Amino acid sequence: MRHFINLKDIATKDLKKIIADAKRRKNLRKKLSALDIDKGAPLKGKILIQMFEKASSRTRISFYLAIKQLGGGTLTLRSNELHLGQGGESIADTAKVLSTYGDGFMLRTDSDKKIEDFKKFLSIPIINGLSPSSHPTQILSDIFTVEEIKKKPISKLNICWIGDSNNVLNSLIAASVKFSFKLSIGCPKKFEPGQEVRNWVKKNKKKIYIYNDPKKAIKGADVIFSDKVISLNDKVNKKKKIKTFKSFRIDKKLTNLANKNFIFLHCLPRGNEVSEDVFLGKHSHVWLQAMNRVHVQKSILLYCFGKLR
Ligand code: CP
Ligand code: NVA
Repeated sequence: MRHFINLKDIATKDLKKIIADAKRRKNLRKKLSALDIDKGAPLKGKILIQMFEKASSRTRISFYLAIKQLGGGTLTLRSNELHLGQGGESIADTAKVLSTYGDGFMLRTDSDKKIEDFKKFLSIPIINGLSPSSHPTQILSDIFTVEEIKKKPISKLNICWIGDSNNVLNSLIAASVKFSFKLSIGCPKKFEPGQEVRNWVKKNKKKIYIYNDPKKAIKGADVIFSDKVISLNDKVNKKKKIKTFKSFRIDKKLTNLANKNFIFLHCLPRGNEVSEDVFLGKHSHVWLQAMNRVHVQKSILLYCFGKLR
């Protein structure tokens, strides 16, 4: 059984296989509508149970469309409506019940431990739909988007992240090791990536470049990534943190230092870490980025269900 919890733990050849499958499937769907089913309906009769302990627009809808297009269906739950969320049932019992009814389980949670606990008791694959430590489905899909737009492997591009050191960046860092691309990070000293992820990069004999000056990080970038300064349920002094990030706002002047044909990506939702003209400007591909999650998640589902060709 294959879980999809953290990019660090998935073989590079499998990550590349997922991207290749997504490319092929996306090409074959050019004339199809959102709910038309891929030829062969590879997940016919299968159900993905999704549970959200935190808000979600894109992940929820894109997984719904993904499994529908493969011939299956979803059931979306909010944890507070379950016995588990009310504190009346254990993870072990809930996991066994989910495994009885469902074929796969996607969880968005504020606890990495909860994902690990579920994994222990489930007999179906679990997908991490965002946790404090990572957002793997987002970043794998973003790699697909970068390669689609740039028409070359991401390893040949300079990637830059300007923003908070959060779950999305952790997954981007993991991807930089798996896909061998140069990653420059611009963030305030106090918000640099944690020691654990940095040690992991070192252990893998790779490097990430961290600058406390956004101008240095963005110089020569082909792709600029960003995310909200304040993540969902971020328990910091919000006003203070936003102030610390003020000089890291991505605006036209800053992007002038990137390569001429740079692209801008943002997983959404956004705050004011990026100016309106950059976010909606000609270098931005955020809507395609959101759309591509459907295509890549289809191939992630096939990987988890042992059906990836
Ligand atoms: N990017 C992303 O995961 O969006 P949602 O929080 O809306 O799912
Ligand atoms: N870093 C953000 C990503 C949202 C998709 C968060 O965790 O809220």
